Amino acid sequence: MCGIVGYIGNKEAYPILIKGLKRLEYRGYDSAGIALIDGNMTIFKKAGKVNDLETIVDPDKIAATIGIGHTRWATHGEPNDRNAHPHLSNSGDLAIIHNGIIENYSSIKEELTKRGYKFHSDTDTEVLVNLIEEVQKTEKTTLDNAVRIALNEVVGAYAIVILNLKNPDQLVAARKGSPLVIGIGDDEFYIASDASPIIEYTKNVVYLDDQEYAVINRDGNYSIRTLGNVEKSHEIQKLEFSLELIEKGGFEHFMLKEIYEQPKAIEDSLRGRMSASQGWIKLGGLNEYINRIDNADRFIITACGTSWHSSLIGEYLIEDLARIPVEVEYASEFRYRNPIIKETDVVIAISQSGETADTLAAIDLAKDRQALIYGICNVIGSSIARASHAGSYTHAGPEIGVASTKAFSTQISIITLIALQIAVVKGTIPTSKFREILYELENISSKIEETLALDAQIKEIAAIYKDATNFLYLGRGYNFPVALEGALKLKEISYIHAEGYPAAEMKHGPIALIDENMPVVFLATNKSAYDKIVSNVQEVKARKGRIIAVVHKGDTQIRALADHIIEVPETEEILSPLITIVPLQLLAYHIAIMRGCNVDQPRNLAKSVTVE
Ligand code: F6R
Repeated sequence: MCGIVGYIGNKEAYPILIKGLKRLEYRGYDSAGIALIDGNMTIFKKAGKVNDLETIVDPDKIAATIGIGHTRWATHGEPNDRNAHPHLSNSGDLAIIHNGIIENYSSIKEELTKRGYKFHSDTDTEVLVNLIEEVQKTEKTTLDNAVRIALNEVVGAYAIVILNLKNPDQLVAARKGSPLVIGIGDDEFYIASDASPIIEYTKNVVYLDDQEYAVINRDGNYSIRTLGNVEKSHEIQKLEFSLELIEKGGFEHFMLKEIYEQPKAIEDSLRGRMSASQGWIKLGGLNEYINRIDNADRFIITACGTSWHSSLIGEYLIEDLARIPVEVEYASEFRYRNPIIKETDVVIAISQSGETADTLAAIDLAKDRQALIYGICNVIGSSIARASHAGSYTHAGPEIGVASTKAFSTQISIITLIALQIAVVKGTIPTSKFREILYELENISSKIEETLALDAQIKEIAAIYKDATNFLYLGRGYNFPVALEGALKLKEISYIHAEGYPAAEMKHGPIALIDENMPVVFLATNKSAYDKIVSNVQEVKARKGRIIAVVHKGDTQIRALADHIIEVPETEEILSPLITIVPLQLLAYHIAIMRGCNVDQPRNLAKSVTVE
C-alpha cells in the first residue's frame, strides 16, 4: 500500500519521480504528491491520481535534482489534498513520504502537541516527521541519527524517505515491514517501494532489510545501518526483469496483458524445474528441506485473497497426490486465533507481492512455533521470500494490474510441482501417473492459448450480462476454488456482487437467489463429478437462472441445458483450474470495461496490502 520513490543525482528529479509514481500507482491511488529542493522546499500534492498531480505542476519551473514522491492508499485520514504526502515538519525543513502505519502515533502526537507542535493533517506520517524533528532538536544530532532514535520509539510498519532542506545533498530512508529498494546508478541513486521505477535507469539494487536505515549522498556514497546502530553491508543485486515487462506492450490494460501472458508465465515457472521425458521434478527450495517436508505431519497453507484461492487448490493437490493432511488458513485469521502449530508442520505462505502484512505476520507466528516456512512468492527479494526458510519463486514476471491473474496460475503450477514431488518420493502415486501429469503440465500452455482464443465469444457473453447486479459462480472439486476466484475477479473490478460456492452447496441457501435475472456461471469440466454437476445445472435451469457453463470441448449434456457454453480443452482434472480460470478472468475483464470501470486500478484497492 502506498508507493514511494526518491531520487538524488545529476538529472532533473521531477520527470523521474512522476514516471516512478505512475509505475507504483498500482500500490494506491487515493492521492499523489512530490517534494523537491531547488533552493527552497517545494511540495505539490493532490487527491486523486498521478495525472491529477501533473495538472498542478509546471515542470518548466522546476530544476531540482533531488526529490521524493508518494502515491497513497489512505489509512489514517480521508484521501484529500491535506492528507496527501509528502508531509512537512513544523520548521518546514523536513519532508517525509511514508508507506505503512505508525500504531502509537496518537500518544506521540499528544506529547508533541504539549511541546507546541501543530498538525495540519490527520495522518500518522505527519506525527512521525515532527517526532524526528523534535529528536533532532533536543539531541542536537544529525538527521540520520534522529531518524534512528525516533524510529526506536515508534511501533508499526514503515518505509520512509526524508528530504532535508538544510542538506540538499542527502536522502535518509528507513524500513520496517514495508519494502524499500535502492537503485545504484552512476553518481545517482533511486529509492522506491519496488524496482519498477528503477529498472529504466539501473539494474543494480540493494534491498534494505527490516529495521535498517540508509543515508544516501549526492557524492555517490551511501551507508546502511541497523536501528541498533550497527553498520551493514549488503550485496548489490542485479534486477532480472526488463522494462518491457512492466509496460503494456500493445494491450489496452495491464490486466488483459497479464491474462494473455499466462501461457508464458506458466512455462517460466516450470522451466528447469521438471522434465516429463526424463520424469523428474527439481524444486531447489524443496530439495534443501526434503526430509522435513516429506515427513511433515501436516501442511498449513496461509495466504490472502487470490493467493488464498490458489492455497485451496494446493490443499486439494497435496492431499490428493501426496496424502498429507493440509489446512488452509486466511493469514489474517490464523495470526490472531491462537492456532495449534507444531514443529513437524510445514507452513506454506503464498503471496504474489511477498509483502502482504497478514501473511508476513502469520509466518512470524509459525516461525516462533518452530514450523518450517516455505514461501511461494512472485516478487524476488520480497519480505515473505526472505522471511521463509525455503521457497520457490513463481517467476510470473511483474504483475501490475491490481486484480491478480498470472500470479494465480503460476502459484498453482508451483504447488502442483510440490505435490507431485512429494507424491513421487512417498510413492503415493504410480510413476506412470506421475509421468502423465508431467506431460500434461508441459502441454498446458498450449491449451491455455486455445482457451484465450475464445476471447471474442466471451466478450459477447459479457455484453449480455454487463448490467447484472449479482452473479453466482459454482464449481465442484478442483473447480470450487476457481468459482471463488472467478467471483472475486468480477466483484473487484466490475463492482458487481458475486459469490462463489461449491455447486452442491447451492441447495443449502443460495438457490433462493435464483430467478430469471441471476446469471450462474458453472464450471463443469470435472469428469469425476460430471453427473452431479449436470443435476446442479438442472436445478438452476428449473428456477429460470441464466446459465453460462464452462465445459469440455464436445460436451453435449450441458450444452442442451445452458444459455451459453464456453468449450475449453480437456486436461487432467487436477490441472483443470489452470484452464477454467481463464474464461472467468476474461469475462470479468470485459464486463468491467463495458461498465466503464478502471480494471487496472479498481476503487478502494491496492496491489500490495502492507497494512493489517
Ligand atoms: C485479488 C488480489 C488480492 C491479493 C491479496 C494477496 O485479485 O490481487 O486478493 O491476492 O491481496 O496478495 P498477495 O498475493 O500479494 O499476498
